[in-house]
Amino acid sequence: MAEFFTGLKRTDMCGTLRHKHKDKEVTVMGFAQKCRNLGSLLFIDLRDRTGLVQVAFDSSKNKELFEKAATVRNEYVLVVKGTVRARSAKNKNPNMPTGGIEVEASDLRIVSEAETAPFSVADDVNEQLRLKYRYLDLRRPALQSKLVMRDKIARTARNYLAKQGFLEIETPFLGKSTPEGARDYLVPSRIKKGSFYALPQSPQLYKQLLMIAGMDRYYQIARCFRDEDLRANRQPEFTQIDLEMSFVDSEEDVMEIAEGLIKKLFADCLKVKFTEPFRRLSFEEAMERFGSDKPDTRFGLELQNLSAEVAECGFGMFTDAIAAGGSVRAITVPSGAAAFTRKECDAFGEFVKDFGAKGVVSALFKEGTVPSFFKFLNDGEIAAVKARLSVKDGDAVFIVADKSDKVVFDSLGALRLHIAKKLSLIDESKFDILWVKDFPLYEYSAEDGRYYAMHHPFTSPKNEDLQYMESNPSKVRAKAYDLVINGQEAGGGSVRIHNPAIQKLMFQVLGMSDEEIKERFGFFIEAFKYGTPPHGGLAFGMDRLAMLFTGTDNIKDVIAFPKVQNASCLMTGAPDYVELKQLKELGIELRAKQPTDKGE
Ligand code: AMO
Repeated sequence: MAEFFTGLKRTDMCGTLRHKHKDKEVTVMGFAQKCRNLGSLLFIDLRDRTGLVQVAFDSSKNKELFEKAATVRNEYVLVVKGTVRARSAKNKNPNMPTGGIEVEASDLRIVSEAETAPFSVADDVNEQLRLKYRYLDLRRPALQSKLVMRDKIARTARNYLAKQGFLEIETPFLGKSTPEGARDYLVPSRIKKGSFYALPQSPQLYKQLLMIAGMDRYYQIARCFRDEDLRANRQPEFTQIDLEMSFVDSEEDVMEIAEGLIKKLFADCLKVKFTEPFRRLSFEEAMERFGSDKPDTRFGLELQNLSAEVAECGFGMFTDAIAAGGSVRAITVPSGAAAFTRKECDAFGEFVKDFGAKGVVSALFKEGTVPSFFKFLNDGEIAAVKARLSVKDGDAVFIVADKSDKVVFDSLGALRLHIAKKLSLIDESKFDILWVKDFPLYEYSAEDGRYYAMHHPFTSPKNEDLQYMESNPSKVRAKAYDLVINGQEAGGGSVRIHNPAIQKLMFQVLGMSDEEIKERFGFFIEAFKYGTPPHGGLAFGMDRLAMLFTGTDNIKDVIAFPKVQNASCLMTGAPDYVELKQLKELGIELRAKQPTDKGE
């Protein structure tokens, strides 16, 4: 029978008790982690969020209490009153922060019994089971410490931004679809049948409207919803530290605030100090050198462009790619020839196919052997290629040629990372932080024959590139920036367009008709007519920061109740079928039959 503990007030948390508390009468509360009955002595490890403390019961001192303690099983919830005493030298446990003391119990209340759990909180069991019983999983100290860190990140961010004059303002969940690029989660309206709200992919439009509303500086720890394929660092609902500020002149105005926030987070949460400004890399340089707009620069293996050296050679695969406007690029792996077998090189060929490349030309510069593609090159070309790649005997070279530069960059950039991981070339003890700037404003899709906004359509072009908006959109760079940490996009943002004429031009280049603009963003465009301070902002992925700060590569570890690969929740079973009555109210009829017609 569960007991009440009226009259007992918690004095201390379990994990905080130390030698200095000796002789103090304490009341601690928590879960029984482990019980050991030695006949006349009985020990219970009591666990709360702060850690474990050993509670001792002695049958010679209080038989009744001892017998009650003997009924306790793992995960029972207990309230214990007792006195802190030092453990004898031989009973000290140096592996526990509270290992020098124990609580000698004088009162025990069993406030909740517990059935045998599907798995022990102390064990590491498979993720499916842990997520089904997430509330038990979350009792594990490893996960609790991650949520504690997440709380610290949120609080530090709030304090920092408040000091910089930012106001925390909430924006709606039930809104109109915003053009962020992912698929929306839709919520049907009961009152206006046949119409839908969209859950926000980000508060982008609202935060810009708050600038027009004169709020000057806004921030929000905002939940965002995107119906996209999940990855190790992607969830369908995730959290941003989202900010926007008025009277922004250049990208650097926002970057300065954002950089200050990141430095503060590192200093307060991890005791890591960055005194120098973060490096700035242009998008072009990032792609040329690393084949990625979120480069991991903790290791070399930089890309080299061989197009000039092989443009006239006799190898059709190279020359065709160059003639079609693409390129031939390579990475050199120093001393890599011994590291890879032919079979592994073939596997790299398969690997790059996932990024659109047809394959990879691999060359192992082993003593006495000549890479097979050299037979298509004359001596001068061979010398030029070797010089460009600074290749030495013993090195390995991997080359990708394609008519699309994007394919070459994507595939070699990914291969560079793949090889670095395989050869353990990444120094995991380092934090590698940099800004990537000067992104193209547009991305051209040959498939659709049109331009898309690389960020979102409210991103401002660079002043000096405005002249190309109509004549050569590919040439226009954006006032956009991403912060990259250890090869992951930690955050991104831009200075926004605040001039209605430029906004109109932007939409025109995207091929949107006046009707379409009015229909989708009429309310937004309208707002810009009534006085708009120049503004810009950024959003950091808070889950990604929490992953980085807690050293996990699984985003689920830093979210209390995450979704799995197919976007479902293993604990609640969401998404689930609903009663047909509910659908009827919403004016929705299903084309697919529900397995069980609940409700009717
Ligand atoms: P963006 O789409 O780049 O920008 O998102 C900002 C940051 O949010 C994180 N992020 C995610 N984290 C987990 N799961 C996801 N599915 C996911 N998608 C994005 C990333 C990313 O850098 N409104 C703009 C910001 C702005 O312009 O101010 C925006 O949402 O860390």
